[in-house]
Amino acid sequence: MLRIDVVTIFPVLFEPFARESMVGIACQRGKADLKVHDLRDWTSDRHRTVDDSPYGGGPGMVMKPEPLVTAIEALAGEKGPSRKARVILLSPQGRRLEQERVEQLAREEHLVLVCGRYEGVDQRVIDLAVDEEISIGDYVLCGGEVAAMAIIEATTRMLPGVLGNPESTEWESFQKGLLEGPQFTRPPEFRGQGVPEVLLSGDHGKVASWREARALERTKERRPDLIRTRQDGEGD
Ligand code: ADE
Repeated sequence: MLRIDVVTIFPVLFEPFARESMVGIACQRGKADLKVHDLRDWTSDRHRTVDDSPYGGGPGMVMKPEPLVTAIEALAGEKGPSRKARVILLSPQGRRLEQERVEQLAREEHLVLVCGRYEGVDQRVIDLAVDEEISIGDYVLCGGEVAAMAIIEATTRMLPGVLGNPESTEWESFQKGLLEGPQFTRPPEFRGQGVPEVLLSGDHGKVASWREARALERTKERRPDLIRTRQDGEGD
């Protein structure tokens, strides 16, 4: 069972996400336990303030340290060797998320995902309470919520017993360091477009080598960096 706590100022964004689809199934099957917390519940002023203007000036607002550190410590305990949870701040400054890290995170006991908003988070939150910063890509979102959902979906689908067919995680080209090739389903002809003959042949060996070749072709064209990484990895 993977326990996941989310700290956000927009908890309602997670409601349908947590209920439906594979994430909902993972929770129903007891493989994951997702709890979403409103950061404002850890404020102590009448206005439930979570942000303030940046020291040194500049545009936008910065998330205040007190509510965030209080929330994180309530959910994960104090930062240090005795902490059982992994506290992750979603931010464009983080290390970029890749499938390998997703699989490591899926093997953790407890993740606490902290969604930043506004122009950033007071650095003391990161220093005092966060274990790691993760980015989901080199673009800027308005906040960490969508990034947290990406981590939740990517990790929960890796949990044993979540996907109906375990082969769909093991057989993925991504695990082999390649993009998936094209897929087809019925009907055999659609708007004048057929389906590659080999897929209808029933010859599993031929199908497998056709898929591998298409995956390699597509990866060379779209993500040549993955091929280079793969060759580097194979040389080890
Ligand atoms: N918050 C804003 N942009 C983000 C990104 N690219 N990844 C993770 N968190 C973010």
